[in-house]
Amino acid sequence: MAHVFVTGGAGFIGSHTVLVLLEAGHRVTVLDNLCNASEAALERVRALTGKPVAFVQGDVRSPQDLDRALADRPDAVIHFAGLKAVGESVEKPLAYYDNNVNGTLRLLEAMARAGCKRMVFSSSATVYGEPDALPIREDAPLRTTNPYGRTKLVIEDMLRDAAAADKNLRAVMLRYFNPVGAHPSGQIGEDPRGAPNNLMPYVMQVAVGRRDKLSVFGGDYPTKDGTGVRDYIHVMDLARGHVAAIDRIVALNDALPSPFAVNLGTGRGYSVLEIVKAASAAVGRALPYAIVARRPGDAAAVYADPTLAKAQLGWEAKLGIDEMCRDAWKWQQQNPNGYSA
Ligand code: NAD
Ligand code: WQD
Repeated sequence: MAHVFVTGGAGFIGSHTVLVLLEAGHRVTVLDNLCNASEAALERVRALTGKPVAFVQGDVRSPQDLDRALADRPDAVIHFAGLKAVGESVEKPLAYYDNNVNGTLRLLEAMARAGCKRMVFSSSATVYGEPDALPIREDAPLRTTNPYGRTKLVIEDMLRDAAAADKNLRAVMLRYFNPVGAHPSGQIGEDPRGAPNNLMPYVMQVAVGRRDKLSVFGGDYPTKDGTGVRDYIHVMDLARGHVAAIDRIVALNDALPSPFAVNLGTGRGYSVLEIVKAASAAVGRALPYAIVARRPGDAAAVYADPTLAKAQLGWEAKLGIDEMCRDAWKWQQQNPNGYSA
């Protein structure tokens, strides 16, 4: 069993991953500055698992915070910490380069000081931009349309350069498609601050009465029903993908190619209207929406070829759209105002 250091572990994907790591018998230390999360998420993870989680409130850009958190030399790092709102990254690009790129640079330096050589990094399907071919394989051209996406590309390049220079550094770059859903208990979930940018949390806030109706961005895409198509993945499947990556990196070590980029998706695309339909079924009534103009920068359709994850990590997504909507709704119903209720 490994000791895993998790940056951003109080956040949406981080909290679910910490829970699954604990259930798999790993020991976990979290570092989070709580800029987009609540410590209550970790308290609920402790309650759900009955296991301890060490927590350091600190910043990945701070060498002091990192040295303190890495003092007992974890076996591996999962690096979630960063900013993720595409629109905000256009308004505040330097904050994105600082938190995401500078934060990862400081983390790699601190890992070198602590003698820690294994990193699993949160990359994103955003690195594929508007794809030429579907489903998207890991060797597709890398390009992106916004500063957030460029920070992910710079970090991937940084990991490629660092691994080329240090043969002992093992880096796995997990390119997530669209994470949604929540733990089936409804105790932990996604708690965006302000109006949600992403589809599923917006739909769930409509369902719970916090928003009037969903605006569907574009009804004239060349897709099955004219609305955008994405590869939604249940956050519990995504969390299990991280545990598979940790197990692989620890077991294989030198035999694992490094760095190694892997898609985490289901391989299935759903349109916005299909999501509205599935969410309406989970909620038990029709959810109101209106089709409006396209959102600039959006691709028509994005979905993964997930075969590499199955071959190399022994992982595949198991949960479907109905479970995603059921669990997102359970979380939203039990926590209409998220953790701040
Ligand atoms: P999140 O905002 O819920 O989690 C990020 C966590 O990092 C938060 O808890 C936040 O408080 C913390 N954090 C941010 N900056 C920090 C800093 N400088 N120092 C310490 N902690 C800091 O987001 P999430 O959805 O859980 O995403 C986790 C990671 O996955 C991010 O790197 C994100 O870019 C990536 N990702 C997310 C999605 C998605 O749609 N949710 C898709 C692809 C990739
Ligand atoms: C999904 C679909 C929208 C909101 C983003 C990032 C990506 C990754 C995941 C981090 C699209 C439509 C949305 C709404 C809508 N994050 N939509 N009305 O844009 O695929 O990906 O999150 O790495 O990098 O770009 O996700 O949930 O915003 O949109 O119609 O109010 O829903 O147009 O077709 P997206 P999303």
